[in-house]
Amino acid sequence: MKLIKKGAEADIYQTKWNNSKAILKIRKKKNYRNPSLDLKIRKQRTIKESQIISQVKLFGIPTPLVYFVNLKKALIIMQEIPGKTIHDLPELKIIELSKEIGKLVGMLHKNGVIHGDLTTSNFILFQKTVFVIDFGLSQNTIKPEDYAVDLRLIKEILNSAHAKIMEPAWNNFLIGYRSIVGNANYVKITKLVSDIESRGRYAAVI
Ligand SMILES: Nc1ncnc2c1ncn2[C@@H]1O[C@H](COP(=O)(O)OP(=O)(O)O)[C@@H](O)[C@H]1O
Ligand SMILES: [Mg+2]
Repeated sequence: MKLIKKGAEADIYQTKWNNSKAILKIRKKKNYRNPSLDLKIRKQRTIKESQIISQVKLFGIPTPLVYFVNLKKALIIMQEIPGKTIHDLPELKIIELSKEIGKLVGMLHKNGVIHGDLTTSNFILFQKTVFVIDFGLSQNTIKPEDYAVDLRLIKEILNSAHAKIMEPAWNNFLIGYRSIVGNANYVKITKLVSDIESRGRYAAVI
């Protein structure tokens, strides 16, 4: 097994599953957490990730197939998507694909799912399809405030990790998002994003 990524939360290995290339994701023990709480959190995120990765396929979100889950070890073996993360693509490509990402997030929200960790490293372009990964923090929710928090996070990531292309990328994201959730939801949710941002600014000055 080859270690390909050491994340804050999980280690990612390349492996094989029935002769297909596969990814093994294992959530690591955190020594700063109480051991039984730690096991509970890792188990719960492993359950969430494997459930929602499959659930969202039903309404058309491309995600890796889940091959195997071991809750005790907090590990998932899934299909490897042999592409590149959006984060690692050239800037022009990121701008262009932001519309598709907006559509995918719109489809999640329209179906009552928030991703919970919307970064450009959690989308993988393979051939012409954008896949979504990393559902450990996702949730089923119908609260518009939760959708706004999801949008706020991806906006923040565009602002920090992709500052030079922030504006066109965010605009394209919003065009894609609106085309899926409809204008009324779009207006309501983006208004909530502005509310979060103004609270943030207010909090920053006191
Ligand atoms: N199924 C997959 N196919 C291809 N690459 C993957 C897959 N799952 C994870 N990766 C790679 O590993 C990285 C980290 O995995 P991720 O599930 O996002 O864990 P983390 O919680 O550490 O962000 C991803 O950004 C991606 O580069
Ligand atoms: Mg990730």
